[in-house]
Amino acid sequence: MFQLTDRVAIVTGSGSKRGIGRTIALTLARQGAKIVVADLNMEGIEETVQAVKEAGGEALGVELNVTDQASVDAMVSKVLEAYGRIDILVNNAGISQKVTVQDMTLEDMTRIFTVNMFGLFLCTQAVLETMKKQKYGRIVNLSSVSAKRGGGVFGGAHYSASKAAVLGFSKNLAREVAQDGITVNCVAPGLVNTDIWKSLDEQTVKSVIAGIPMGRPGETEEIAAAIAFLASDEAAYITGEEIDINGGSHMD
Ligand SMILES: NC(=O)c1ccc[n+]([C@@H]2O[C@H](COP(=O)([O-])OP(=O)(O)OC[C@H]3O[C@@H](n4cnc5c(N)ncnc54)[C@H](O)[C@@H]3O)[C@@H](O)[C@H]2O)c1
Repeated sequence: MFQLTDRVAIVTGSGSKRGIGRTIALTLARQGAKIVVADLNMEGIEETVQAVKEAGGEALGVELNVTDQASVDAMVSKVLEAYGRIDILVNNAGISQKVTVQDMTLEDMTRIFTVNMFGLFLCTQAVLETMKKQKYGRIVNLSSVSAKRGGGVFGGAHYSASKAAVLGFSKNLAREVAQDGITVNCVAPGLVNTDIWKSLDEQTVKSVIAGIPMGRPGETEEIAAAIAFLASDEAAYITGEEIDINGGSHMD
């Protein structure tokens, strides 16, 4: 089940050392996909490419700034040159900032939306023509539990708003491309066990855990597994949907 053999998958933000993106890259590679490791961080790209290769997979590293149209177009051209197709796009690159609305500047708001929403838009738009020609595509977008209930520990209201925008954008696009063999879905993780979790003080950890029925943060593998499913052939009849992965901290 959930074979991705020879599928070409772009994972944005997959150069993060201990972030979700690297685990997504490794998970899709283990299912047989060829991975495009796309990130701002060249050193991180090299490490992820190496990790995928060590796991027996195939990977191409491409420097990418999701907020820059020319950079996005160049990335897509490189992928098409190398592989001739694009089957899967995981829009994982994202940034957050802990700040109250009272203290937030318009610049803060613009920066968060520029990466989390406008960057996701640019990357998505850039692969549509290819996916439509193929009559096949899987787009999986990273939203967040904070889009639905607010109150992220690491993000502000601008982060929650940008991740809610991702949900609306994905549902609208899902309708637009439903006839083209392209599905568009989201995952909405709660708190995930990345470096940022380890940086929290004991008191904050206690208060966060108190709000999670399962009593622990999620693991990157648990996010990546849902993405691998949504990216697979088997998920062909699921579109415009989001999967909450949060240990029960938010239930629709
Ligand atoms: N970690 C969590 O608890 C959590 C919870 C819910 C949602 N998410 C979402 O999951 C995704 C990954 O989160 P993470 O914790 O792994 O983050 P991370 O900071 O570890 O990794 C993000 C990656 O995105 C890259 N990036 C940032 N701006 C970019 C740009 N302009 N162009 C290209 N790449 C860029 C960074 O270089 C980095 O490698 C994000 O969209 C985040 O909002 C994370």
